[in-house]
Amino acid sequence: MQDPTPAAPKPEILAAFEAAKGFMPLHEGLALYEAALEAGRLGLPLLEVGTYCGRSTILLADAARAAGVTAITVDHHRGSEEQQPGWEYHDPATVDPEIGRMDTLPTFRRTLHKAGLEDQVVAMVGRSPQIAAFWRTPLGLVFIDGGHTDEHASGDYEGWAPHVAEGGLLLIHDVFPDPADEFTGQAPYRVYLRALESGAFTEVSATDSLRVLRRTGAGI
Ligand SMILES: C[S@@+](CC[C@H](N)C(=O)[O-])C[C@H]1O[C@@H](n2cnc3c(N)ncnc32)[C@H](O)[C@@H]1O
Repeated sequence: MQDPTPAAPKPEILAAFEAAKGFMPLHEGLALYEAALEAGRLGLPLLEVGTYCGRSTILLADAARAAGVTAITVDHHRGSEEQQPGWEYHDPATVDPEIGRMDTLPTFRRTLHKAGLEDQVVAMVGRSPQIAAFWRTPLGLVFIDGGHTDEHASGDYEGWAPHVAEGGLLLIHDVFPDPADEFTGQAPYRVYLRALESGAFTEVSATDSLRVLRRTGAGI
């Protein structure tokens, strides 16, 4: 059961979150934090797909610290489609000038260091399905915030949702039921519908585009 008055992150954690480069608004971040605190009670690691520069990782890691578990974050650090040069969400500062490709890993590491959360986080650098293919550990929470194509969003769901433990939480970001609200497509919305239709997950809460589901049955 969720607490009537959820714990808020300390001011210095909130300041680090606000200062970090990234895409998660504060009110969705607080919903992520609350879910992560609750899921942490299972005593299992909490995993995020889509690190980018570490903005959401800060809140996941702070909740993991409170629960005494590890936060894991997965990203190839080369950016999603919509973050590439010429696209809406491109930030030229994320390009490695030597190789001319995005590399968000150095910024992520600085973000985490400044937030004092390096010891709470294991960062896995690589393609999400490739890492998921050898993953065997049950997870208290999976937060899907990776690529927005159907291939990537489905790959994240199929790769990581099976590892959400009974009673654990599956979070999906950028769920937009109205296509007019979303520039990068509705693949996360389709994954959210698929999770509900599977009968394995039940909706707990919705905060703007962030959906929190709980595993209440087997499968995906
Ligand atoms: C929307 S950003 C994540 C935003 C971040 N959670 C935040 O709070 O700012 C999506 C990230 O997913 C990563 N990504 C996209 N597809 C991926 C894949 N197949 N495997 C690993 N990472 C991927 C991109 O490199 C990008 O950094």
